[in-house]
Amino acid sequence: MDDLSVNPYTKLCAVLGYPVRHSASPAMQNAGIQTLGVNLRYLALETHPDDLGRAIDGAKALRFAGLNLTVPHKLLAIPMMDALDASARTWGAVNTVRLEGRTEGGEWIPIAQSDVTFSEIRTHGFNTDADAITRSIREDLDLPIKGSRILLLGAGGAGRVAALKLAEEGAHLWLVNRTLEKATAVKQEIQQRFPACQVEVGYPGDVVDLVINATSAGLKPEDPLPFDTARLDLGAVASAYDMIYQPAETPFLKLARESGCRTANGLGMLLYQGAKALEIWTGKEAPLQAMKEALHSAVYGIR
Ligand code: ATR
Repeated sequence: MDDLSVNPYTKLCAVLGYPVRHSASPAMQNAGIQTLGVNLRYLALETHPDDLGRAIDGAKALRFAGLNLTVPHKLLAIPMMDALDASARTWGAVNTVRLEGRTEGGEWIPIAQSDVTFSEIRTHGFNTDADAITRSIREDLDLPIKGSRILLLGAGGAGRVAALKLAEEGAHLWLVNRTLEKATAVKQEIQQRFPACQVEVGYPGDVVDLVINATSAGLKPEDPLPFDTARLDLGAVASAYDMIYQPAETPFLKLARESGCRTANGLGMLLYQGAKALEIWTGKEAPLQAMKEALHSAVYGIR
């Protein structure tokens, strides 16, 4: 199929969230689906957290091909999955669900990859968010993670996963957070899980390769900068990454660019987590360029 029409064989994917109407995933995923020419369609379905279990059961009953889960469902869904991939177990969150049908031989096959009528369906939970963080840094900033000296601002939900993923990939980390105890707790978790990682709490005394903003400071125009300008000179930093992508350039990223840093925002994270999800459902390589263009035009109204 080269359009987005539907027929009796069309299978569904959806992002479940609360709220979800802001989501750019339908635009991005349907562009990928259209380019691949697979008979899937992707919706955004507002799902209250109290209804998540029933929504997932409904997706099974309706033979959905896949789900994405966004705020506030990623942790809630863990005990609701019939099977968990290592990625979901490692990061303690599910953002991608592959629905699978059981063959007569007992094998589980992704629903998107077969037109067989299955009698038994299961949910298989994955996490594609964590990989997307480091892939975006590697590809959008052209920076290797292993051996890089990275200052991470923020130790909330997003900051914690970023810190752990960067630690897993061999970065040398400095953790800064408005609430010191949270940065200390993340440091302790890193030391427990990735003992080879060099990790410190506080600002680095020397130059770093990359500063990442994983705080929510910058989402609103009145927000302060996420770091102390007296403790960090962006002029001595090679690259800056802001997980925020709306606005496209936060005051942090603007200052970094004006200080000569190479910069990237978090749209790449959204792209790479979505591309990986599409690959998990379909077994086909995701058409990154088409998905990227659709994402840009959905988020910024431009290509
Ligand atoms: P998310 O899931 O997006 O990470 P979160 O868990 O609420 O959301 O974490 C928000 C992060 O932004 C935290 O690191 C928070 O710092 P605190 O732990 O001290 O709350 C950080 N943050 C939010 N507003 C901030 C501000 N004005 N200045 C600095 N950091 C801020």
